[in-house]
Amino acid sequence: MRNRRPAIWVGVLSIAATLIGIAIVLAIDWFPTQASSAAGDIDTLYDVLLIVSVPIFVLVMAVVLYSVYAFRVKPGDTSDGAPIHGNTRLEVIWVTIPLIIVSVLAAYGWIVLDDIEAKKADALVVNVTGQQFAWSFEYPEQGKLQSNQLVLPIDRPVHFKIDTKDVLHDFWVPEFRLKSDAVPGITTDVRLTPTRLGSYPVVCAELCGIGHSTMRQTVRVISAADFDAWVEEQRQGDEDGGVAAAGGDPLEAGRRIFTDTGCNACHTLADAGSTATVGPELDDLAAQAAKYGKQEGQTPAEYVKASIEDPNAFVVSGFQKDLMPGDYSSQLSAAEIDTLVEYLLTVSKGKEAQ
Ligand code: CUA
Repeated sequence: MRNRRPAIWVGVLSIAATLIGIAIVLAIDWFPTQASSAAGDIDTLYDVLLIVSVPIFVLVMAVVLYSVYAFRVKPGDTSDGAPIHGNTRLEVIWVTIPLIIVSVLAAYGWIVLDDIEAKKADALVVNVTGQQFAWSFEYPEQGKLQSNQLVLPIDRPVHFKIDTKDVLHDFWVPEFRLKSDAVPGITTDVRLTPTRLGSYPVVCAELCGIGHSTMRQTVRVISAADFDAWVEEQRQGDEDGGVAAAGGDPLEAGRRIFTDTGCNACHTLADAGSTATVGPELDDLAAQAAKYGKQEGQTPAEYVKASIEDPNAFVVSGFQKDLMPGDYSSQLSAAEIDTLVEYLLTVSKGKEAQ
């Protein structure tokens, strides 16, 4: 029975394999938490693609396996196969059906993309700048507020305008789903609405150099009231170097600036728990600043401040020029830089004495 009607068995097994395959692809948790307005539509689109892919995969495999079995060479048969000059009906079918499937999926994808990228009234504009190896954010409508943290109010549409100061980067929050390259010379856009409170990773999804893997920050989605308070706190921080926000503790304020500004992506500093080696280690900075500062006729604090504001002024041997971004004096206020310098000299001195 089985040998006489193998095609029926192939059909039955294929249907079973398709159903099992669809159950498996839908059971796998492919995506992280849905935290933006775009996530639901995108995940549904992917589910549809997966469901459509399974029967095609099964069909191809069934034809291949059936052919291997049914048309296998008989023992002792050394003749050539019969010459075949095509089959017009078959060719029309295998061109037409995939064309229809791909066209329908393309139209569906276009509709979803058009929908999730629709401009919304009252969008919060956030300028996103990629730079080896950190993201920085500017809120032009909040008094051009500069921040190294991405903070967003929940349920308000956001329009990210994405830029880069050097090479290609790629701005991506997996929980938001959408991502976009940061391309030298042009501004790219991402529009979405955060729909879930919480903290999610902001990653760079384009290999951009030695620190690419450390180019990770966090987006915090908070309530509208908390967002307003955060904006106010950032403004205050520009005035007092972040000390009030850190509960009056200047070291804690410095630690926060070090981490929030992304210094930890490149520098090792035990006090801040960072171990990166893109730039010089800072655990012995106090001693180094005393030594090199003297050569340059600077106090240690002046030396550290100059190294932050103009990294090329003095480059530690073994490290390249132009590796460290040169715009921290515009990212940070004067008071914040003072807080950071004080912090770095204090914790590296403490470390040395241990
Ligand atoms: Cu920036 Cu990878």
